[in-house]
Amino acid sequence: MRTQVGIVGAGPAGLLLSHLLHLGGIESVVLEIKSRDYVEKRIRAGVLEQGTVNLLIESGVGRRMQREGLVHHGIQLRFAGRHRRLDLFQLTNGRAITVYGQHEVVKDLIAARLVAGGPILFEIADVSVHGMTTATPTIRFRKDKEVLELTCDFIAGCDGFHGVCRPSIPKGTLTLYERNYPFAWLGILAEAPPSSEELIYAYHERGFALHSMRSHAITRLYLQCEPDEELANWPDARIWAELGTRLAVPGWTLTEGPILQRGITGMRSFVVEPMQYGRLFLAGDAAHIVPATGAKGLNLAVADVHILARALVEFYSSDKVDLLDRYSETCLPRVWQAQRFSWWMTSMLHRFGDGGAFQQRVQLAELEYVTSSRAAATALAENYVGLPLGWLPEASPLG
Ligand code: APR
Ligand code: PHB
Repeated sequence: MRTQVGIVGAGPAGLLLSHLLHLGGIESVVLEIKSRDYVEKRIRAGVLEQGTVNLLIESGVGRRMQREGLVHHGIQLRFAGRHRRLDLFQLTNGRAITVYGQHEVVKDLIAARLVAGGPILFEIADVSVHGMTTATPTIRFRKDKEVLELTCDFIAGCDGFHGVCRPSIPKGTLTLYERNYPFAWLGILAEAPPSSEELIYAYHERGFALHSMRSHAITRLYLQCEPDEELANWPDARIWAELGTRLAVPGWTLTEGPILQRGITGMRSFVVEPMQYGRLFLAGDAAHIVPATGAKGLNLAVADVHILARALVEFYSSDKVDLLDRYSETCLPRVWQAQRFSWWMTSMLHRFGDGGAFQQRVQLAELEYVTSSRAAATALAENYVGLPLGWLPEASPLG
């Protein structure tokens, strides 16, 4: 088998890359270890930045998102029993976020690829990548009982944090930057109408809580918990009681409902540099992970593949490798801005076991500041709705 770009992983990064390449007249094959049903039902985050929304619409895969996605002009912060709203729309001159589940984006992208005849091979196994520093890198894998080889011009490693592409790069080539946090999130999906029209981020002495949603009938809620928390310790009544306590403000009640899905998500910051080795390019979670507090994971994956697709289109149309060679240096400034923002939101909103009363007072002062200073609120808002897709420090208005 032969293709121009072999893509490992059918998450948002791999699927959107394949779609953007198709629009640029470039052939690709997507290889995925899980089934179509599994990737279409995998519940992940659900906040799309304005730049992500624009790209999905411009590339023709935004119709259902425009119909069903919930456009939010603000978010709420709760702390010390108080409730403050940040008007994202006003603070960013008309930008907003759209609440639309990541698995819905995945469904839309799979549908678009299949309609266009783009091959996606699901349920493959034993994937390995070879010859990354040659002009014809290959991907070997097993489909049913047959071992196959896909010869490519380029390989895109879009196989997430636990994939095979990043570990295939020789040791010593990449520099790893990492931070683990001493807590996790217990997340639930509940069949209950949201109790607020907007997302609520709550700082409470018992720990962080988040009220989000997927539709007018489904609420998504999270609680800070121990990193090694057992779901068995959290019967429904305990989950609802804890959410009710941490999110409480006078005159507001949390609507409960049957819990449809539950899980524990670890919190980690992780980046590898560079994001390229020879003709292997890493994109999305394969190259970087952010703690979910800033809602940046999916949006970073989208920014990477936007940049990679542009570089590959330039290569195939003019034989120039400039953009490909600059892939890492183009992505990384924005990746680090998202890392900084996600770390900052996480640090401001969670209880750290060893922080003591001093850290608690500083966190409360920070929350007071971001909800009362226009400059501080603007800094939060412009990062939350997302920096421009190709953000570079030189292009900033302050020079
Ligand atoms: N071979 C083929 N596919 C693989 C392999 C492998 N060896 N290992 C993993 N995969 C697949 C996974 O099953 C998954 O479908 O790669 C895909 C990676 O998708 P994601 O984990 O969704 O990563 P990405 O596309 O980069 O999207 C980033 O996903 O993890 C969330 O919060 C994160 O929202 C962010 C987004
Ligand atoms: C979600 O809806 O899953 C969600 C929203 C905001 C976050 C993280 C997750 O910061």
